[in-house]
Amino acid sequence: MDRKNILLIGFMGTGKSSISRRLKKLLNMKEVDTDAMIVEREGMSISDIFAEKGEEAFRNMETQILRELKHEKNLIISCGGGMALREENASIMKDAGTVVWLKATPETILKRVEHDDSRPLLRGNKNVEFISNLLKQRNPKYLKASDFSVKTDNRSIQSISEEIIRRL
Ligand code: S3P
Repeated sequence: MDRKNILLIGFMGTGKSSISRRLKKLLNMKEVDTDAMIVEREGMSISDIFAEKGEEAFRNMETQILRELKHEKNLIISCGGGMALREENASIMKDAGTVVWLKATPETILKRVEHDDSRPLLRGNKNVEFISNLLKQRNPKYLKASDFSVKTDNRSIQSISEEIIRRL
C-alpha cells in the first residue's frame, strides 16, 4: 500500500531523526532527511555551507528539495529545524503529506544538542536562554505548518512513534 508522506518538523534536538528511523521500521516506509540530502548534493557539511555560501543559499536548497519530494509517496521526511520558517515551504509541506511537529522544552533540547557541533546556529549559543528565545520566535511558524504536535520530553522513541501512528 502506498501511504501519504509523513513530514517531521520541529526545533533542533526534538528527535526528528530518531523518530523518523523508528517510524520507517514500524510503518515499512522509506526515510529521507533533508539535511543529509543537502550535504550529499553539495559535498559539504551544513556548517561549511552556512560559512561559505550563507544561510540564504542553504534555505533555497531546502525549498528546492521539498519541491522535489512533494511528488513522492511512502516517505518519512525528516526536515531540518528551519524548514517551517518560510511560508512557501509550509504550503509545499501541507501538500506533500501529514506534517507532525515534534516539541521539547529548551532544557530538553539543550541536553540533546550539548555535545554536538554540527549545528551552526547553536555554535556559542548552547544555553537555555538562546534556545528559549529562538523557540518563541519559531513556535508560531511550526504551529502554522503542522497538522498536529507531539511532546517528546521524557518519553521513549517507541512511545512517541506509536502516538504519531495513532494520530495519523
Ligand atoms: C537548522 C536545523 C538543522 C540544520 C541547520 C539549520 C535550523 O537541522 O538544518 O543547522 O535552522 O533549525 P536539525 O533540526 O536536524 O538539527
